[in-house]
This record gives sequence, structure tokens and C-alpha cells, in this order.
Amino acid sequence: MAVNESPVASPAPGWGRRFPRDERVFLWLVAASLVGMTAVVFGWLAWGNQNVPDTYRYQTPAQYSETVAKFTDRYQAEDGLVYVPPGEDAYLAASRYTFYPGLALQANTQYRIWLSATDVLHGFSLVGGGQNINLELAPNHVTGMNLTVGDPGRYLIVCNEYCGLDHHTMKAYLTVVPAAVMEQNVVAAGAGEEVTPGVVPAGAIEISADPTGALKFDTSSLRAEAGPVTIVMENPSPLPHNVAIKGNGVDVKGKVVLKGGTSTVSADLDPGTYTFYCSVPGHEAAGMKGTLTVT
Ligand code: CUA
Repeated sequence: MAVNESPVASPAPGWGRRFPRDERVFLWLVAASLVGMTAVVFGWLAWGNQNVPDTYRYQTPAQYSETVAKFTDRYQAEDGLVYVPPGEDAYLAASRYTFYPGLALQANTQYRIWLSATDVLHGFSLVGGGQNINLELAPNHVTGMNLTVGDPGRYLIVCNEYCGLDHHTMKAYLTVVPAAVMEQNVVAAGAGEEVTPGVVPAGAIEISADPTGALKFDTSSLRAEAGPVTIVMENPSPLPHNVAIKGNGVDVKGKVVLKGGTSTVSADLDPGTYTFYCSVPGHEAAGMKGTLTVT
């Protein structure tokens, strides 16, 4: 063994001499860029105009679904969109394979949007409108995001976390509207008819979504007499669902409702075979459908 390689022998002569000038300059540059980059990170956090979430809350999926349902009931307009007046918080729930409800926001306004997942891990990626926001949404964790939307339009939202077989179909839109449109719809939503829960129209067929969250109804075959047919579906499931009828030129959909809600669909039906199903993306394909026979 050479003497210089021994851990107990003296180091090679000259080891403690000062670094040459070029090495010293290099080390000072590294130190300066380290300090500079650290300053930019903290400065950007404090003064950067960004939309990262800065608030978190703990809420179980059931609690969060209830919050979203109340918010939706309050601001949902005729067209099914939820018009959020400036200054109000918005809520969005991700569940397989949809984002609920459809939000309409006022152009060039800052909003606080709360997001959570009600079943499994999902992603939230806002790719439209010049925004680039990517969040992970986990059940039990509610994330508050500050979002300043830009000009009117439809901003695409996609799920960027693999959440199941129909993950690739999980997308939605943020609708951004001018102030005048917001005003009209908020007034309209406020003046909407009172919804009396638990009252089922006479002669309606009553069904229920699977309470455990499985993608099915409590029945897969229904019968009705020709004429006006109404199906009322209760949703005791942690996922958003609705009831819809299609076939023989008919295509009608009830409102998508969260846990505790009731979705109603009506149509004038001729004798024949129809499909009743849930129109939330992926749900029909997974088996949430049945046959409606009209005689
Ligand atoms: Cu939700 Cu992928």
C-alpha cells in the first residue's frame, strides 16, 4: 500500500494550500446562485401572482358531499350550471368519473375554489384559459385554491391521476361568463321554485341508486304504461348520479344529484323498449342501467 493512501498517515504535501483563483471564483458564483435561487423561491411564494392552494381542511367524503349539495342547490340555474357570484366560495367534488357540479364563474374575478375527492384519488388539471394548475385530490382532504379566471369561455378540466378504467373520460369544463350573464343567472337561481324533498309526483316509478357506491340501481328492469312516465331516483350513494331515459328517439336526463338528492326524469312514451340509465360519464358503461318496458 502506498503511504499516501493510508488513513492514518499524513496527507500528501500541499493539501492545505489555498484554492487557486479560478476555483475560488467558481465557488463564490455557486454560493451566490444558491442564495439567489432561495430568495426567488420565498419571494415568489410571498409576492408571485400564482394560484396555488394555501388552505386545507379535513372533511369526510360524506360531509364534503353534503357541503357540495347545499352549495349546488343554492346557486344552480335552469341550465344545470352553478353560477357562483363574485365573493362566494365555490365547491367542486371529484368522483369516478366526473367533476361535480358544473361551475360558472365571472370573468376576470378571483375565486376561492374548494376541491376534494369523494371516492378515490383523483387529479385536477386546469388546462384551459391559459391556466396551468395541477392538484392531487384525495378523499378526506379539502383543498382551497385561489383562482383568477380570465376572459369568458370554457376552460377544460381533466383528471390527471389514474382513478379507474374510465379515467380517460374524466373531464369537465369551467364556464367563465361576463358579469351581465352572472347577474341574470344568480337572480334566476335565487327565484327558483322551492324544492320540497320527499314529495314524489303521483304515479311516478321510484328507484334508488346503490347505497354502497356500486355503479348500479336497485333494479334493472322497470315497466310502465304508455303515456307520461316519470322515474324518481333517490341517491343514497357517495357518488353523484342521475336517472335518464333513452331509446326510440327519446333522450331525456334528470338532474345529477349528490348523496341525499333526488333526480327526476319524465317523458311521454309510446309502447316499446327503452333504457333507463345514469348519464354521469362511465356509469352506464359500468352497469348503471336497466330496461324500461312500456306497454
Ligand atoms: Cu379521476 Cu382519473
